[in-house]
Amino acid sequence: MPLTATGQRIILSDVHLSYGSQPVLRGLTLHVEPGEIYALLGGNGAGKSTTMSTLLGFTRPDSGTVLVAGHDPAAEPDRAREQIAYVPENVALYEHLNARENAAYLLALAGLQPGMQDIEGAFEATGLQREAWDKRLSGFSKGMRQKVAIAIALLREVPVLLLDEPSSGLDPRATADFNRLVHDVARRGAAVLMVTHDLLSAADIADRIGFLDAGRIVDEACAQPPERFDVRALHRKFTREVAVA
Ligand SMILES: Nc1ncnc2c1ncn2[C@@H]1O[C@H](COP(=O)(O)OP(=O)(O)OP(=O)(O)O)[C@@H](O)[C@H]1O
Ligand SMILES: [Mg+2]
Repeated sequence: MPLTATGQRIILSDVHLSYGSQPVLRGLTLHVEPGEIYALLGGNGAGKSTTMSTLLGFTRPDSGTVLVAGHDPAAEPDRAREQIAYVPENVALYEHLNARENAAYLLALAGLQPGMQDIEGAFEATGLQREAWDKRLSGFSKGMRQKVAIAIALLREVPVLLLDEPSSGLDPRATADFNRLVHDVARRGAAVLMVTHDLLSAADIADRIGFLDAGRIVDEACAQPPERFDVRALHRKFTREVAVA
């Protein structure tokens, strides 16, 4: 189905993928539209990172449809990756460069040449403290690194943001800051797929929460204002689903 007919930015449709004889994705279907935050939960080894890797074109599915802003990552990995800002659990940046230099260099690699004012504006948008802008990354905390990565994503104006366990190891304040930032990126129109074990963060910012089990989405919950999600009910359901996996 063409992208324009569905309006979906991230499409995984009936995706099957095995590592050797081990099936990991077994009919995974998941769609994310522009401006939407989809939180993907699931037990350890459920296939969440594999799903990310498939969207990035590093892992090729055996069957099914995968489209990122209209591009098949297996067929056109570079085109698909141009559409994506990927923030892994541990953001890899150049340790010996400072925050500004990292942003300028990584954006140059993406073919962009933003002015220093633009970079500073993006740092401000992420809440990265001014004192940190000229410091080497080697002294940065996980939360600060993520802010630099999101600032770069903002400057790239990519339509798709992929986050793999962004809040693991962040303190509650840093988690709240990061969630606000992700929410802002989505409000600018990006489709956000966030893999997380953090049900509270998911309930805080996601529009939909999907549970991945045995290689497919076994349950999906939509935000219902004003309470948005019944976190206790989701927790009960989620722990039961993981327990029987
Ligand atoms: N490159 C690989 N080669 C072989 N098997 C792999 C590979 N990557 C992942 N697997 C296996 O595929 C399954 C899914 O792994 P994946 O990393 O996608 O899980 P996950 O949901 O991200 O788990 P976690 O919550 O622990 O991060 C696991 O059984 C894992 O051992
Ligand atoms: Mg993982």
